[in-house]
Amino acid sequence: MFNLKKIGAFAAVLAVAVMSIGFTAQAADKKPAGGPESVAYAKKLWSAMGDAKLIGAKAFMTSPYEGMEPHGFVLETIDTMLTVGGHTGLVIVKKNYGPKGVTPEQVVDNPKKHLAAVTVMFKREKGYDPEDKDWFWAKYKADGSLDKNPAGMQLAGKVVKGGKAGCIACHKGAPGGDMVFTRDR
Ligand code: HEC
Repeated sequence: MFNLKKIGAFAAVLAVAVMSIGFTAQAADKKPAGGPESVAYAKKLWSAMGDAKLIGAKAFMTSPYEGMEPHGFVLETIDTMLTVGGHTGLVIVKKNYGPKGVTPEQVVDNPKKHLAAVTVMFKREKGYDPEDKDWFWAKYKADGSLDKNPAGMQLAGKVVKGGKAGCIACHKGAPGGDMVFTRDR
């Protein structure tokens, strides 16, 4: 004989489990930063930057200059238009070179050896993040994998929405209200 009570209880447990899996997936995708959607987008962005020769072995080189914290000791900043998954927007790529004491000349001689990180702002489609000018933020290591903050969150997306520290919090202080320091956009 089937035990209807048991089957009923099992079904209820199953339903709750399915609901909670659905809920976690949804919650993860709604994360402003570091969630699966942001991470997937950051991968597409990295490969589009490679195709455009903004990064990678065939990347063109600009004149690196001495930088400041938090972005590194020698920097290169490039901005141009880039298309990612059908959307074209302004991209600002900042390459951070190290270690401490490295000179711009040494970086020009061997950029690959000195590249420490690549920080990127990409202007997403209107409505992506209206309060913060629709920028997508990402910080990559030299090999293209995403860097993480101390809490283990991958640095991609709205980094960090509402946070006291991080890309958005600091860049809010940039002159001109466009979140860009080096020039007004
Ligand atoms: C504590 C402050 C601070 C934080 C945090 C910060 N930045 Fe910046 N960022 C700056 C400053 C200052 C400049 C301009 C000076 C320079 O070239 O370093 C800058 C420049 C940039 C630029 C070049 C465009 C511009 O605004 O001039 C990019 C791209 C960038 N940051 C990306 C990021 C990303 C991505 C993050 C987070 C992973 C981040 N930044 C976190 C202060 C910060």
